[in-house]
Amino acid sequence: LSKVEIKMDTIPEGKNIVLKWRGKPVFIRHRTDEEIAEANQVSLDELRHKEADSDRVKDPKWLVMIGVCTHLGCVPVGEAGDYGGWFCPCHGSHYDISGRIRKGPAPLNLEIPLYELNEAEGTIAV
Ligand code: FES
Repeated sequence: LSKVEIKMDTIPEGKNIVLKWRGKPVFIRHRTDEEIAEANQVSLDELRHKEADSDRVKDPKWLVMIGVCTHLGCVPVGEAGDYGGWFCPCHGSHYDISGRIRKGPAPLNLEIPLYELNEAEGTIAV
């Protein structure tokens, strides 16, 4: 199984990076406290695909997702859209700061891959 490992201290708070994993983009965001609070204050009733932020992260500071729009597979753009997260320019899907679909044609939240988060070593491995 091929793994890509990244040092957490190379990603400043409030920044995204994009890794390539098995030909797919993986988004990692080092979220700020404000972003975590925002992700947690959304009620499940407002969501098309009802997932709590806490069920999408191992550590709320680190959001790790497959960067493929759940509509037809384009790659969403970070720090864009109406919900402070990602925006897919292909047909206009807006994802929030937890990667959850909020507006547009995509049916599901951005997928969470299997990954390991090692706080002691400061690494994330996808
Ligand atoms: Fe993303 Fe259609 S592929 S909105």
